Amino acid sequence: MRSRTLGFFALAAAICFTAVACSGGAESQATGGVKPELVADYIHTALASDRTAYTKHVVNRAKKLEGKPKKDGVLAIEATEGWESNDGIPLPAQMFRLGSEIASEADTAFTYNLISTWYINDAQGPKNDFEKKAIQQVEKTGEPFKEYQEVGGKKYFSALYPDKAVAEACITCHNTHPVHKERYPDKVFKMDDVMGGIMINIPLEGA
Ligand code: HEC
Repeated sequence: MRSRTLGFFALAAAICFTAVACSGGAESQATGGVKPELVADYIHTALASDRTAYTKHVVNRAKKLEGKPKKDGVLAIEATEGWESNDGIPLPAQMFRLGSEIASEADTAFTYNLISTWYINDAQGPKNDFEKKAIQQVEKTGEPFKEYQEVGGKKYFSALYPDKAVAEACITCHNTHPVHKERYPDKVFKMDDVMGGIMINIPLEGA
């Protein structure tokens, strides 16, 4: 390539870089020029879509769900919490957690997980003041809650998206689960209730 052409490309690259770096302040730089809020929305869409696809196209093909026959099932398999000990397949929330555990092993500080005030799994209760505040807001408004937070001296952009009772199975299974009945005897989920939320934490420095 001629040196003038090269020079042109170098200039164009420098302009692009400056435009990206200056477009959204320090926070956007950590996420490659895209606003952290938008990054969280993209991640949430991918996570929620995968969970729905797993529910619709895998769990729904099983002939049994937690011991009960499923009329649309075509595979002689059961979707059940005890999947490891009875040749079954994981429930959608378990599948989600298995993915989030693998993601947390990657060497980025990015994390995601399900949380709920009425958690069945102890690992999924709101863990700190931020998560407690976020889940209360999401339960109250039914809308995502997004805010910057600092954990151990590191800045994060965190977003909690509502996880609502979109199917009858959500409420029947949770309301009749032995752990739920023992811990929250007065909490009876109804359709469209916020049952919990998907928490996404994006590191803004030293990622
Ligand atoms: C067949 C039973 C069953 C169905 C159906 C079901 N869940 Fe769950 N859900 C569970 C179990 C069991 C857990 C705990 C799983 C784990 O160990 O991570 C759980 C976990 C969750 C959590 C995390 C908090 C917690 O309880 O540990 C949320 C939020 C949640 N489910 C929402 C939903 C929603 C919304 C639906 C419907 C779209 C749904 N669930 C359908 C059984 C079910």
